[in-house]
Amino acid sequence: MTAPRGEILFEIGEYRVRRLSEEDAPMLRELGERCLDHIELHYGSPPDPSQLIPDLLSDLPPGKTLADKFGMGVFDGAGRLVGGIDVIRDYPEPREWYLGLLVLDPGHRNHGLGAGLMNALTQWLRLREAAYLRLAVSEHNAAGQRFWTRLGFQPVKQVIAEFGNKQSVFHVLRRALETR
Ligand SMILES: CC(C)(COP(=O)(O)OP(=O)(O)OC[C@H]1O[C@@H](n2cnc3c(N)ncnc32)[C@H](O)[C@@H]1OP(=O)(O)O)[C@@H](O)C(=O)NCCC(=O)NCCS
Repeated sequence: MTAPRGEILFEIGEYRVRRLSEEDAPMLRELGERCLDHIELHYGSPPDPSQLIPDLLSDLPPGKTLADKFGMGVFDGAGRLVGGIDVIRDYPEPREWYLGLLVLDPGHRNHGLGAGLMNALTQWLRLREAAYLRLAVSEHNAAGQRFWTRLGFQPVKQVIAEFGNKQSVFHVLRRALETR
């Protein structure tokens, strides 16, 4: 099942999540300006506010194509882009999806939106017969580690990876989608 770019995928209260396209690049850069903390944590200094554009529109893991990439924008009730979600279908295994990114505007963190988005994304993934969701969280991201643990993600392994000019240890986590 595919979703055309621009289509609304799911809603949480006043927030709407829709698939992003190249036309959204200027808004993604603005969101990047507000999320420099997150970009610096992963890519090092100085943080590039345009980083969310490839993250959500074009970056792919080995062997995947853009048809497998779902870069999603989270829009508030006023239609402002306040977050991004990136998922890759069937990576690294069939029926296992990979969450490449979940980031919220700092003004929209810490009131349960992230948890609500993950709940809605889980329903969306189940409809696509996904069995597992996998992600990697940086050793430097203590709040992120608490968030994923609270949502039931379990450790798989640790890897060392380099993004931009920063090398970090990442905790690879995974959660079964069918049993919760
Ligand atoms: C990680 C992230 C997506 C989580 O989304 P979120 O909406 O902030 O998540 P939640 O609100 O569910 O939980 C975050 C915190 O708010 C608290 N919280 C949730 N609802 C709350 C409420 N109504 N009142 C007070 N606190 C609340 C949670 O207990 C949690 O606290 P903790 O940090 O002490 O563990 C978001 O913080 C973010 O974008 N961070 C930067 C990017 C990032 O790290 N992404 C993950 C990379 S792997």
